[in-house]
Amino acid sequence: MSTLKALILSGGKGTRLRPITYTSAKQLIPVANKPILFYVLENIIDAGIKDIGIIISPETGEEIKRAVGSAGAWGVNIQYVLQDEPRGLAHAVKVARPFLAGSPFVMYLGDNLVGDKLNTYIEVFYKDKADAVILLKAVKDPTAFGVAEVAEDGRILTLVEKPKEPRSNLALVGVYIFSPSIHTAIDRLRPSARGELEITDAIQELLNSGCIVKARVLEKWWLDTGKKDDILSANTVVLDEYAKLDVKGRVDKLSQVSGRVVIGKGTEVLNSKIRGPALIGENVKIHNSFIGPFSSIGNHCSIVNSAIEHCVILENVQIEDIERVEDSLIGRHAKVHKNNSDHKALRMTLGDNSVIEV
Ligand code: G1P
Repeated sequence: MSTLKALILSGGKGTRLRPITYTSAKQLIPVANKPILFYVLENIIDAGIKDIGIIISPETGEEIKRAVGSAGAWGVNIQYVLQDEPRGLAHAVKVARPFLAGSPFVMYLGDNLVGDKLNTYIEVFYKDKADAVILLKAVKDPTAFGVAEVAEDGRILTLVEKPKEPRSNLALVGVYIFSPSIHTAIDRLRPSARGELEITDAIQELLNSGCIVKARVLEKWWLDTGKKDDILSANTVVLDEYAKLDVKGRVDKLSQVSGRVVIGKGTEVLNSKIRGPALIGENVKIHNSFIGPFSSIGNHCSIVNSAIEHCVILENVQIEDIERVEDSLIGRHAKVHKNNSDHKALRMTLGDNSVIEV
């Protein structure tokens, strides 16, 4: 069998993450100051895969190319495949067929973060001569995902995309391994009720035609970063797992840094308290402020006379004189200032689909 390739799906419109996704691809939203897509690439490269196709959309494709390209040499072959309309995950595989060229492949959704390495699952794929290996994880609300019904002996009975009445709590994680048989299964598909060619239906089709489909439950965490709170949870998990004390910037004597805190170069912390795990980028100004656990602050931000906790703040954001900001995702170049006049009113310039809670 030819060597294993990888296909990363990085198209889509990211409607649930508006307004951030009006100006940027959802796969490039940073978690612990690193784009989600880079975790995906690293996991794939770590498994020894050398040929990677990235599915892009007309809206965000150029931005994805620029970000991946500007991150330096990945040491692998990366090809971009344009899917001109979001017509489903199985449709993306169809579009990528010339790139895949009869090879088995790992398919990885570019907005999924998993704590597990891929090697164990790749071993299952080869050892069991499988046509598909799917990964599952128990979730609270399975109706938002593809759902697998698994027999006691581990056999998969049914796979249903976003069922109204799920038969189990095992969701399909957005990481799959396929043999070229998936193409034949996809050719037999009809669009689903939401008008898409569903990969879940294609795997069900493999089952129906007697192919070997193996399921494994993920050992570590899985985060599907579809919504704001998912991004905050992902940030929490990743900081918890990887943040180590590393101070490159300047912290004055009046400041206190406790726990695992990363402070990038050129950053200046004056008369402030930072409690880890937290990550502060480069050339950030933190004056007279408190930065609480599970916060990531992008490069070139300025936080003055404010308290922040459990937030993901992108680059070039200014926050001034705000008593407390919690559980927030703030996009690039946003400004949050106190209104100092006696007249208590909110003054706002908000992008479409912004959400504020006052
Ligand atoms: C897709 C798949 C679904 C899977 C999910 C994981 O859903 O169709 O089966 O559980 O990814 O992230 P979508 O994100 O397209 O709604």
